[in-house]
Amino acid sequence: MNQEVIFETQGITKYFGGLAAVDNVDMKIHKGEILGLIGPNGAGKTTFVNTITGMLRPTRGRVIFKGQDITGWPAYRVGRLGIARTFQIVKPFLGMTVRENVAVGAMFGHKGKTRTTRQALEKADEVLEFVEMGHLRNHFADQLTLAYLKRLELAKALAMEPELLFLDEVMAGLNSREIEEAMEMIRKINASGVTLLIIEHVMKAIAGVTHRVFVLNFGTELAQGSPEEVLNDPRVIQAYLGEKFVERQRRMQQASPQQ
Ligand SMILES: Nc1ncnc2c1ncn2[C@@H]1O[C@H](COP(=O)(O)OP(=O)(O)OP(=O)(O)O)[C@@H](O)[C@H]1O
Ligand SMILES: [Mg+2]
Repeated sequence: MNQEVIFETQGITKYFGGLAAVDNVDMKIHKGEILGLIGPNGAGKTTFVNTITGMLRPTRGRVIFKGQDITGWPAYRVGRLGIARTFQIVKPFLGMTVRENVAVGAMFGHKGKTRTTRQALEKADEVLEFVEMGHLRNHFADQLTLAYLKRLELAKALAMEPELLFLDEVMAGLNSREIEEAMEMIRKINASGVTLLIIEHVMKAIAGVTHRVFVLNFGTELAQGSPEEVLNDPRVIQAYLGEKFVERQRRMQQASPQQ
């Protein structure tokens, strides 16, 4: 694994009133890796991504991309630098075709400024082939299944030609076959040279595609390491499943006959 740090947060903090939704998070993302970001509901994962991609301004801390301080930059400037993200709640333009939706993505990103509409549509076609949605390009977004809506989000982000891509729960609500396909797509995106941070509750996907995992709990870092280490860490299991589950496991172990 290439250890070059492409992206880094230092003490990033975001308050909503008195609530520290993200509290003093130091994270490094290495060039070429797939980093998983997990944590229970409300842990601050989406807020973290919003705060480092210009949707929200951090209360404190610094964001560094390829050595440049981009703290507090607005989303469009962050996008032009080569960082894209998807949204947990899909936001397609319903009155537009799939192709037009993706073309909008192609108008942003680092080459977006100089693209004509026609070039943006050509880029959209290329990306739709890559994500295997070419056959749906003239469909309207409101005709798509959830799996394809999620993939459309991915296509819109990819049309920005990012170097670094943040995915926020692109597998939520998918069935197991669709999850397998999404995992394959993430590997393919990564193999094309894109560094990824993926937020996911589907642990099979975290275990199956990430190189490293970072755990947030109550806005702070709980653990980080290899997927095996992190997913077997009792603190992580406890954060996810709660005290009661851990207590029940302990009682069951005590009750079972000794080997
Ligand atoms: N715009 C906002 N205003 C006030 N509080 C917010 C806002 N957005 C999020 N929060 C709160 O911040 C905390 C972190 O929320 P966030 O959505 O970042 O969690 P998450 O880890 O993405 O959760 P999930 O897994 O459910 O998507 C929660 O307590 C949430 O209620
Ligand atoms: Mg979230």
